[in-house]
Amino acid sequence: MRARTRPGRLHAFDGWLALEERALLSAPGLLVDLGFGASAITTFELSQAFPAHQVLGLELDAARVEAARREFPQLDVRVGSLDSSSPTAALVVRIANVARGMTKPRAAELHTHAARWLVEGGVCLEGSTDVEGHVSSFWVLRKRGGEVVREALVFQTDFARGFSPWLFRDVLPRALRRDVRPGTAIGTLLEQWADAWQLVRGAEPEPSFRASLERLSLVRADVSPRLASGGYCVWLTPPSEPGAFTSES
Ligand SMILES: C[S@@+](CC[C@H](N)C(=O)[O-])C[C@H]1O[C@@H](n2cnc3c(N)ncnc32)[C@H](O)[C@@H]1O
Repeated sequence: MRARTRPGRLHAFDGWLALEERALLSAPGLLVDLGFGASAITTFELSQAFPAHQVLGLELDAARVEAARREFPQLDVRVGSLDSSSPTAALVVRIANVARGMTKPRAAELHTHAARWLVEGGVCLEGSTDVEGHVSSFWVLRKRGGEVVREALVFQTDFARGFSPWLFRDVLPRALRRDVRPGTAIGTLLEQWADAWQLVRGAEPEPSFRASLERLSLVRADVSPRLASGGYCVWLTPPSEPGAFTSES
């Protein structure tokens, strides 16, 4: 497996932390990056974005860890995973482009292991991007009462590929990708978003994105256009419907 990565690929994750986790990150602490891949460039970028914090890169592949040590001697990178290493109180666990190929139970297990690492109130961002990082989606999982709770699914684009709500289908968590069909929670969301976009779309992707979210939020209280200027769409988990994201969870 190539385990490819590239500079800037995880900007949506780091941007989210900077925008939304200021309180959590107000005091120095540990940020864990799981599965950095063939280069630790995105782990390095995480450490650059949050210089007051300690960053730990965990990777299963020993050769990749060796390569990362040569490339970024200043980084703390170790062979291991969330279940094989001793949990340390982390403010953030970032898991990007790692769980895509996992079955739903294995991905859920990964989230449970992340919970063991997080401080109460800490956050796990787990999701996927396209090759360049132009289009991303990730779960925001918060540790509450010892478990991780799904707070939101976040979609982000930098508009380099234009915009259509359907762009996000390919970067959805695997379980959701399979659920994209009429009548499911994710299928309905994307259809309603596409309908809203068709009504307001113009020549430029960015204003079309913003206008589509404003329109969509008129019919859906669980979608927030608050961060639309940064290319983010936030789909809030309705607390009364814990199974709203998938048809079987
Ligand atoms: C596709 S690369 C992702 C690189 C980078 N995070 C990115 O998004 O560009 C996935 C990496 O995750 C590693 N990996 C997969 N499962 C893992 C696990 N449970 N713990 C640690 N690393 C894991 C693989 O060895 C691989 O190097």
